[in-house]
Amino acid sequence: MLEDFPALFLPLNVKVDSSSTVSLPPLPAEDGGASCSSGLPEDLSTTELPKAFRVRSRPAGADRPGRELLRRVNSRRSTSGVMEAVETRDKETDVQSRGEAAIKPEFLTTKEKFHQSIDSELQKSLSNNSSDNNQTDEIPEPEPKKPKHDPRDEQNSGPAGSKRLRGQNKSRPHTKPTTYEEKRLCLSVLQNRDCSFGEKCFFLHDVSEYMRSKAADIGERCYLYDTFGKCGYGLSCRFAKAHTTADYQTLEKAELVKALEGRSAVKNSLSKDLQNSLRKRRVVFSRSEEYLRTLSKDQTQACGREEPEDAGGKRPASEESQSGPDERPPVKTVGPLTDADVIKLRPCEKKKVDFQDKLYLAPLTTCGNLPFRRVCKRFGADITCGEMAVCTNLLQGQQSEWALLKRHESEDLFGVQVEGCFPDTMTKCAELINQNTEVDFVDINSGCPIDLIYKKGGGCGLMTRTRKLEQIIRGMNHVLDVPLTVKIRTGVQEKSNLAHKLIPEMKGWGVSLITLHGRSREQRYTKLADWDYIGSCAELARPVPLFGNGDILSYEDAAKAKQTGVSGIMIARGALIKPWIFTEIKESRHWDISSGERLDVLKDFTNFGLEHWGSDTRGVEKTRSFLLEWLSFMCRYVPVGLLERVPQRINERPPYYLGRNHLETLMASQNVGDWVQISEMLLGPVPNNFNFLPKHKANAYK
Ligand SMILES: Cc1cc2nc3c(=O)[nH]c(=O)nc-3n(C[C@H](O)[C@H](O)[C@H](O)COP(=O)(O)O)c2cc1C
Ligand SMILES: [Zn+2]
Ligand SMILES: [Zn+2]
Repeated sequence: MLEDFPALFLPLNVKVDSSSTVSLPPLPAEDGGASCSSGLPEDLSTTELPKAFRVRSRPAGADRPGRELLRRVNSRRSTSGVMEAVETRDKETDVQSRGEAAIKPEFLTTKEKFHQSIDSELQKSLSNNSSDNNQTDEIPEPEPKKPKHDPRDEQNSGPAGSKRLRGQNKSRPHTKPTTYEEKRLCLSVLQNRDCSFGEKCFFLHDVSEYMRSKAADIGERCYLYDTFGKCGYGLSCRFAKAHTTADYQTLEKAELVKALEGRSAVKNSLSKDLQNSLRKRRVVFSRSEEYLRTLSKDQTQACGREEPEDAGGKRPASEESQSGPDERPPVKTVGPLTDADVIKLRPCEKKKVDFQDKLYLAPLTTCGNLPFRRVCKRFGADITCGEMAVCTNLLQGQQSEWALLKRHESEDLFGVQVEGCFPDTMTKCAELINQNTEVDFVDINSGCPIDLIYKKGGGCGLMTRTRKLEQIIRGMNHVLDVPLTVKIRTGVQEKSNLAHKLIPEMKGWGVSLITLHGRSREQRYTKLADWDYIGSCAELARPVPLFGNGDILSYEDAAKAKQTGVSGIMIARGALIKPWIFTEIKESRHWDISSGERLDVLKDFTNFGLEHWGSDTRGVEKTRSFLLEWLSFMCRYVPVGLLERVPQRINERPPYYLGRNHLETLMASQNVGDWVQISEMLLGPVPNNFNFLPKHKANAYK
């Protein structure tokens, strides 16, 4: 998985840290649009949060997350000079070009009043809770271990990363705690066996000692125990009381366990055997070798190998001179036959997928994790795809990369996306996936804009290296039993579209689906996607289906997109802002979802997260960090009932508004501290040393 995804929305280097608000200037509203026609009742829930959702407080003396939060919140209220400067600049440059969501005047407020409203609720909830403090048996979180370096951070901040990469959140700390628990229980205790490390074991074996030092339970019910009849995290689970006896025995629901025996909801894990074989380079890639042999010897030398780049990330001259759309086909001619004829695409052996008219949840690095995709599936997403995986990391058997291929049983039409820039590694990677996973398609990310990948010739760099792209597509197609799909952009530069030149060629190379994001690399998210262009590309692609992608946030947007003649649509940020967009599209309506229902959606996500990442402290904090990443997008949602004119558009920035209750207001906050507060409603108090900075600055409206 790549830590740093592009400047998704923010062309400016705005500094965002935990004490800053991502605040945006007020901008003029766009013309037109109907007034809100939703007949659904407004959210009538009280301003008081359910007790279970209130920020829990710590015993006197302990550093209370709530107070800490308030400190952060208060310090953040004084806008930093940086932010002021950015705001002024934005006002000057963007004021004409972007709109503001039209919110009914009665809900509009000022920045100060907005934050005051949230703060006073926080104060209230803290003072309510402080009266309970003396009765609580909560134990302060232990100090964390010294943070370790994350090699990925190193990779991103090393020589290649020393040049600032556009759009990633550069103010993120480069170290993060690897654990929030100082004293961890030895696995042998959880598994009821002797510890093979004996005296030397670093972990605790004394259960009572562990239980004394363990952070307090977060809730009374364990989702894993309730769902599966047992919880693999046993005593280390942060909901352990639900399945632990007074003498620390772990309970199981025998009938449920039996009923679910042998069932595995998640597929595509990397086995230890395969990992070992990959590490020792013992995996045989026979189909790939067959294809790679057809590439002529000198071609293999020049382009079929991973050649080292020079320091500037430039490819060897021999390669660069080969790029361009007018190149010879890469296959050797044998009389009237080409090797492409000999090495058949095996079209009849391939499994077919009917993509027509389906709703495709875009691959989303970090945010498009398995728990999030489960949420989207429930709301009606038809096609889901794993987060982009780096092909060379998969070939090396990296566990974290393989985790990106995992598929939940609810994902009935599922593909994985890979990134790479060379025919040999990409072909082998496809063969590896073909042999060892259950997927319905494999997608090539030929649209990725980030420097790290683009400069190596991958991502949308492949769009200008058609020869390589052809070799990659033909090679992957040769080894795959499932369809091969390709995701592209309009091109690299803003005024020089490439997709329409590439599409007719790709049809001949054997792609089964093309997804086109209607923006160039240069544009990133600064302008609206060019749907006219997407439409003309769909025409060129026929009979190969082409899906259009860009800016869809409502069923009207989806209907308009379909009118351009595309076979289907892909949705990215729209799903992050409101995953129920799939329901809205399928039912052609605006859903005036209440804040309580939205919290339920987040609750589902956290439950799925605990199932996926674990219900121990480590899993809880991992779930929290992915939740926070998601909240950085979700806060952009404006409830339908508050809109003067529906639908909300993706390029419209919400002004400051007060929701119909406290939770709705809180959910509209663009402040990291407030997202943390939401996370605390679902996952309990953050650990003392907790720090979070979003990877993606979800500044869709800048
Ligand atoms: C957080 C985030 C992560 C993304 N990760 C990927 C990715 O892994 N692979 C990919 O092809 N595109 C990725 N994209 C791009 C989207 O798939 C999509 O093409 C783009 O956001 C435009 O669609 P939208 O206007 O619906 O957001 C990502 C976008 C976002 C916002
Ligand atoms: Zn041990
Ligand atoms: Zn549990």
